Amino acid sequence: MYKNKISIVGTGYVGLVSGVCLADFGNSIINVDIDEEKVAKLNQGEVPIYEQGLKELLERNLKDERISFTTDSQEAMEESEVIFIAVGTPPNDDGTADISSVLKVARQVGKYMDGYRVVVNKSTVPIGTGRKVAEVIEEELEKRGENYNFDVVSNPEFLREGRAVNDFTDPDRVVIGTESEEAQEIMTEIYRPLFLDDVPFVFTNLETAETIKYASNAFLASKISFINEMSRLCEQVNADVNEVAQAMGLDSRISHRFLRAGPGYGGSCFPKDTRAIVSMAEEAGIDLELIKTGIQVNREQKEYMADKIINELGSGEEGSQLAGMTIGVLGLSFKPETDDMRESPALTILPRLIKEGAAIQAFDPEAMKNAAECLDEYERDIVYCANEYDVMKNVDAVVLLTEWNQFRRLDFERLKRVVNQPVFFDLRNVYNEKEVAPRGIRYIGVGR
Ligand code: UGA
Repeated sequence: MYKNKISIVGTGYVGLVSGVCLADFGNSIINVDIDEEKVAKLNQGEVPIYEQGLKELLERNLKDERISFTTDSQEAMEESEVIFIAVGTPPNDDGTADISSVLKVARQVGKYMDGYRVVVNKSTVPIGTGRKVAEVIEEELEKRGENYNFDVVSNPEFLREGRAVNDFTDPDRVVIGTESEEAQEIMTEIYRPLFLDDVPFVFTNLETAETIKYASNAFLASKISFINEMSRLCEQVNADVNEVAQAMGLDSRISHRFLRAGPGYGGSCFPKDTRAIVSMAEEAGIDLELIKTGIQVNREQKEYMADKIINELGSGEEGSQLAGMTIGVLGLSFKPETDDMRESPALTILPRLIKEGAAIQAFDPEAMKNAAECLDEYERDIVYCANEYDVMKNVDAVVLLTEWNQFRRLDFERLKRVVNQPVFFDLRNVYNEKEVAPRGIRYIGVGR
């Protein structure tokens, strides 16, 4: 059994979840971050992100001393045979990923290693980064006049926000990109509980593993854009996109998953990774037309949702079509079970409604603080409410934007009592016309 310590550099989403879950698999983890305050809090069991089950798992593994947090990367790297790189790769202006933090960690590895090391890329990194990491480590070793052996592995992560712990501990597959058998064996040991549970392990080379991550996200994003485009057609031809998707999904080659029409995908992954794969391909002389169109469709879908609301409710001149109206908004985060506002459709839709003169009353169970920061220039136009029913008070329409569970069983009688001529925009197709319309509420879904 593999007994050595593992360092995980980065305590962002991927780094922290990987650290805590790998500790729970029985590994001994040192999680490294430069942020002293964050490290101190994590050592106390305080989790800086909202993620189901993570806090409990962290507390248990802290108590059992399988995980600790430090800012001392030198000590961590000296003690660990395996070093995971899980630092951020934010987008550059041209859509490419900025890998300077990844290479900085690689440089530290080269500086501090004192024997064989396995360096694992867990961050979503551009294809070819694994080779660059190896070059940088080589450079540092040369400077020191040392020639320790090491292997670089690409081990992309497929977890979803809000289900991160579950996705990590019960994945569809584990991808391990390395040509070294020794590194393969060590990686298998690290993931031993999954290996024993018959989770498929894909062993491949570095570049293939790196490509699998981008190809998977680009495919899922394109699948969403496909159904969103279909929803626009459905609206024009009296078809129902939910039923179309459901029936399409019964074909196991298609599958119904990630085939829900809505206000467009958001988050930190699909938008960033689709742009990144397009620019990587461009550099390689390949034009990824399908993915580019998917990105465009997604951008339009957010605008299309705003148009839908404005066209339905508005009158008068452009710029004041919703003057004097108040619109209630349920949900702000890019999806439920997260406080993440990055690329949320709310950031396109709310400003459009406000620019047409509407006042907004909004509620989100977790994302209101982040939303207020992202939408600070509209501070005067948005009132953040205490719950979903306060949102509905004295509004002209209600928009369901994010399908949090608590919005899936609304009391429409209460909506009817507090709204004048109630219009309900269900941008996630949680309800249907048959159940809402008989209560005297106008129902408008997506693609139906
Ligand atoms: C996504 C992938 O699902 C993960 O597998 C991947 O590991 C992760 O990116 C990443 O690269 O780190 P995430 O961004 O957390 O995960 O969120 P998803 O649950 O995939 O949702 C993304 C967006 O698509 C949301 O805005 C959601 O509302 C939207 N969506 C999803 C739809 O509009 N329709 C669907 O059918 C499914």
